[in-house]
Amino acid sequence: MGTFLYRNDRLAARKLLALILFQQMGWEMVGNKDGSADARARFLSDPFELEDALSPVQRLIALHEEIRHSLNLEDVTRIAIALYDSKTHRLKTFIRSGAKESPLDHYTASLDDIPSLAEIARLKRPRVVDDLDMFKSSPSLHSTRLIKNGFRASLTIPIHDHGALFGFLFFNSDRPGYFSEVVVHQLMPYAKVIALFAINEMQSIRVLQAAMKTAREITHLRDDETGGHLDRMARYSRLMALNMAEKHGFSDEFIEFIYQFAPLHDIGKVGIPDAILLKPGRLTEDEFAVMREHVDKGIAIIDAMRRDFNLDSVSYIQVLRNIVAFHHEAIDGSGYPKGMKGNDIPIEARIVSVADVFDALTSARPYKKAWSPEDAFTFLHGAKGNRFDPECIQALESGMEEIRTILAQFAESPLG
Ligand SMILES: [Fe+2]
Ligand SMILES: [Fe+2]
Repeated sequence: MGTFLYRNDRLAARKLLALILFQQMGWEMVGNKDGSADARARFLSDPFELEDALSPVQRLIALHEEIRHSLNLEDVTRIAIALYDSKTHRLKTFIRSGAKESPLDHYTASLDDIPSLAEIARLKRPRVVDDLDMFKSSPSLHSTRLIKNGFRASLTIPIHDHGALFGFLFFNSDRPGYFSEVVVHQLMPYAKVIALFAINEMQSIRVLQAAMKTAREITHLRDDETGGHLDRMARYSRLMALNMAEKHGFSDEFIEFIYQFAPLHDIGKVGIPDAILLKPGRLTEDEFAVMREHVDKGIAIIDAMRRDFNLDSVSYIQVLRNIVAFHHEAIDGSGYPKGMKGNDIPIEARIVSVADVFDALTSARPYKKAWSPEDAFTFLHGAKGNRFDPECIQALESGMEEIRTILAQFAESPLG
């Protein structure tokens, strides 16, 4: 992760801490000395300002604190959100809060394999399970893991956005039978707030993606940047990040942002003249120099969007910026525009560049046939140690089965 992101996180964490401290101490205890009264006044005049820079997971933690302390629902020990991918019918873990180690990080499952969840999604109704032990006779992987970690009761709420399934919100407790009617009643307004901020966060990302799509359509971005390419390279990026998650400590939230932002890597190409972008033959040196400007143009677009759409409240916007800015950097320093080396290149950019090239190699283009994944890996390994991060190549190669699924599911159609 880039250092800037790290600093942002630290800042957000400090703001969150201040928010929680303010709440726990009560206003009387926030003294008048040393400008703390100013901070208090500022907070009172704009209590939501402090939350602006929080990531979804930090917001969830803040709301969880609120539920436990202000509502006195101490025994709500875990809150989590899983997102639904309508294209693959799969659920994936996204954000969670709770002191205990999470039993379900980096977990995905087909909704078809969890009929009880599919049913409450269809009915648009919450479900209370008084004791997860009841699943012991027919355990699914996720219920087994929850039980093993001491969770006993659960309240599950399907989240819909404009009628379409968005995901699920889970509350868990270690106490069997905890989610009584009264407790559920108390939790519901909070559940709505949590669902709304999750939808809002993803909505902001969708606005960015839609803006990009429109810009692409208006400027007739060249044919090889098809929807299929973007779908596949985003999924390869996600697969790599998942396989590297444990070693690097990636959260599900970070992985989701890499996945969402990977397709925007070439956003700057909308600013490249058609004569160069659509030129069928080889580019001259001068033309290639213009082509390379798509990176700086991309950064300018992101920064303009950030400012004009007020997207600084979209957490992890820095992940997007890093992907756009550094996806043509190479480990050996031979990339552009900065010639950065090795680990100085943010990991999200190293991941996306391997995914992008792997998909370009394995796709048919007017001037070449599609390579097999094996041939593509032989090529990447050949360039290993000089251009691409060997760890990223390894992370992709270890997911061969998933690669084949992605290739089959997102095969190029004539419609793109
Ligand atoms: Fe590019
Ligand atoms: Fe690409």
